[in-house]
Amino acid sequence: MEIKIDNIENIHEAARQFVASLGESTVVAFYGKMGAGKTTFIKAVCEELGVEDVITSPTFAIVNEYRSATTDELIYHFDFYRIKKLEEVYDMGYEDYFYSGALCFIEWPELIEELLPEDALAVTISENEDGSRTLKC
Ligand SMILES: Nc1ncnc2c1ncn2[C@@H]1O[C@H](COP(=O)(O)OP(=O)(O)OP(=O)(O)O)[C@@H](O)[C@H]1O
Ligand SMILES: [Mg+2]
Repeated sequence: MEIKIDNIENIHEAARQFVASLGESTVVAFYGKMGAGKTTFIKAVCEELGVEDVITSPTFAIVNEYRSATTDELIYHFDFYRIKKLEEVYDMGYEDYFYSGALCFIEWPELIEELLPEDALAVTISENEDGSRTLKC
């Protein structure tokens, strides 16, 4: 499926469409170049899911934890960009997150590809020439 984000004002509409299509998947891997819009889209999706916390890319901790104020469920947001060794990912206890049943949104999943659950949903975000974004999943 493909979702087009024509401009930043449309992002919540796109996020709503994405949430409606999520189905059974809890681990979602967001592929896309630097600056493609992964963090921005994850933020919109989290807001759509009722997160009221401040949503920024996890910088020091690899993972941010949010809680939906509407469902009271936890959502995890990972950014593996700075990972140097898989050992760091083992050490943070990634399995406890990925197999918790909670939603896990992942930036730079290519850096931990072999650790992704088999049923992880792959989403690719790309920037078009006119600045719009296309999301494929
Ligand atoms: N749908 C969009 N429409 C217009 N601008 C966008 C959109 N998504 C993101 N941007 C802009 O693009 C820039 C980069 O976005 P963002 O930080 O989300 O990218 P990223 O894929 O997470 O990058 P990184 O790989 O560095 O983590 C930001 O300035 C953001 O405002
Ligand atoms: Mg980012």
